[in-house]
Amino acid sequence: MNKLIQVAIDSPAAAGAGTQAKLIAKHYNLLYLDTGKIYRFIGYLKIKNKNKFNHSFIKKKIDRLNLKILQNKSLLSDKVAIEASIIASDKKIRQIVNNFQVKYAYNPPKKFNGSVLDGRDITSVIMKNAMFKFFITANIKTRALRRFKELKSMNDKISYDDVLKSIKKRDKNDYNRKISPLKKTKDSILINTTNLTKRSCFLKIKLIMDKKL
Ligand code: C5P
Repeated sequence: MNKLIQVAIDSPAAAGAGTQAKLIAKHYNLLYLDTGKIYRFIGYLKIKNKNKFNHSFIKKKIDRLNLKILQNKSLLSDKVAIEASIIASDKKIRQIVNNFQVKYAYNPPKKFNGSVLDGRDITSVIMKNAMFKFFITANIKTRALRRFKELKSMNDKISYDDVLKSIKKRDKNDYNRKISPLKKTKDSILINTTNLTKRSCFLKIKLIMDKKL
């Protein structure tokens, strides 16, 4: 039996990890799980259900969660992202999310050769023993500009300064929280996308992966 190809990616917000994860998934026929979307989904639930929002409510929703729900456009807003980074420091919420993630990380549907997950604690907690571990980053102004361009097409009113502020806030939350903070593990390969095109970044990753496969 062939071994599953497992790719774990961590990155701060808007560093290009999602783009690379999708390219990797397509090229190697892997299941892709954007784990940030799960935290965003819970952040969205909090905004919409202020009175009912507690751990058992979240658990029920996560039990019924599927990948299609995670594609909902309302999860993309900056308001939801900030809320996600706040609820993500809750230990019990992380445990509920972990159970959902592990299912996809270790048991992707048979048609796939493995899985690629991106997030903040994938290399350090969720897929500690993954065959490939990457830490993808870029300087903060580049990240803010990329996210600003993305969000601008959905919301005219958003400004670059707002986006920069919100990314700084999320970085602060994500790097400094006690449980599962964002960090580069020693065995993760650093990829800085600041001056790389999407394609050249992918080719760099592909070279590393092909050498081992
Ligand atoms: O990746 P994305 O920017 O969509 O993630 C939204 C938020 O979810 C992050 O700022 C982070 O606080 C949280 N998150 C996390 N652990 C993950 C993925 C995302 O804490 N594995």
